[in-house]
Amino acid sequence: MDFEELVRRRRMVRRFSPEPVSEEKLARILDLARRAPSAGFSQGQSFVVVTDAARRAEIARIAGERAYVERGFDPWLSGAPVHVVVCVSERAYRERYREPDKLRGGPEKQWPVPHWYVDGGCALMLLLLAAVNEGLAAGFLDLGTEGYLRLRDLLGIPDDVQPIGLVTLGIPAADRRSGSLARGRKPLEEVVHRESWGSRGGSD
Ligand SMILES: Cc1cc2nc3c(=O)[nH]c(=O)nc-3n(C[C@H](O)[C@H](O)[C@H](O)COP(=O)(O)O)c2cc1C
Repeated sequence: MDFEELVRRRRMVRRFSPEPVSEEKLARILDLARRAPSAGFSQGQSFVVVTDAARRAEIARIAGERAYVERGFDPWLSGAPVHVVVCVSERAYRERYREPDKLRGGPEKQWPVPHWYVDGGCALMLLLLAAVNEGLAAGFLDLGTEGYLRLRDLLGIPDDVQPIGLVTLGIPAADRRSGSLARGRKPLEEVVHRESWGSRGGSD
């Protein structure tokens, strides 16, 4: 599959066949995600992979799957054979940017943009695309403040590591699409500014 097709095929899938994902496929997907860029090569991204059925069911409980299903959606999380919690470490960046080649005798970086979240997003995107590349599909969801606290407890995620969301992986099944898609994708000229913000400019 070429890159354009891969990108165009990717979409958030919210229902999966219970069939397990082979360890080989999973390893290739995670290995590609590991190739995500990171500021200063800090590599603050990490992944907690959960395939144990009881643990996945507990994550589904934490995420409020029962209420979700009662609203007419599919049992997305409990039915997905693989959960991957994508995590970032702010500490990894702060420590890296205190190293001499980054400080160069100057003050510590101010972090107007928290690079750990940027890099977490890069790794997330690679995970989503790598899943499609393996003939699988992926979904992503936020667990909310309380959900992350409970997830930390369940999975033993340390205090200085922030889970940024949960990726579900597996063979796609027919799912109910998100209502958000009704918004439609913005046209190119609305999201691209050429030379300055004031001028719009996709290609025509
Ligand atoms: C940071 C982020 C958080 C998201 N959180 C959720 C979520 O909590 N639940 C959900 O069903 N989808 C979630 N999504 C998926 C978006 O709804 C989805 O990407 C968007 O509707 C576009 O659809 P597509 O990815 O299938 O093209 C999230 C996506 C991102 C990037």
